[in-house]
Amino acid sequence: MILTHIEHLGIAVKSIEACLPYYEGVLGLKCYNIEVVADQKVRTAFFKVGQTKIELLEPTGEDSTIAKFIEKRGEGIHHIAFATPSVADALAEAADSGVQLIDKAPRRGAEGMDIAFLHPKSTCGILTELCMEGTK
Ligand code: CO
Repeated sequence: MILTHIEHLGIAVKSIEACLPYYEGVLGLKCYNIEVVADQKVRTAFFKVGQTKIELLEPTGEDSTIAKFIEKRGEGIHHIAFATPSVADALAEAADSGVQLIDKAPRRGAEGMDIAFLHPKSTCGILTELCMEGTK
């Protein structure tokens, strides 16, 4: 599998607004986009550190997977996303290696990128996202 860098870290938070004083005020990062991903019932806020992003994930409803994650494990790192030149190729390689897939094919995620998730049961406990390299 070809991975070029950590594209972003997904962090589950109860409130994006409550986190801005830390990310912007203390760390000095600039929130450059806030976006609702309706089908995932999540609101996302993006910050950049070098070529890696921090993606804050705030649930928009109680049935959101992020709401359930926070309920079970508290706020914190939700997933790690690796950039790859081809999500479809990386996904096929993972499947060939016996990795349990959450997405059988790439789908459209935040920022219009192709993404796909691997199941934490097959990835040493970390929900793992593969995402297309070279977008914004
Ligand atoms: Co992500």
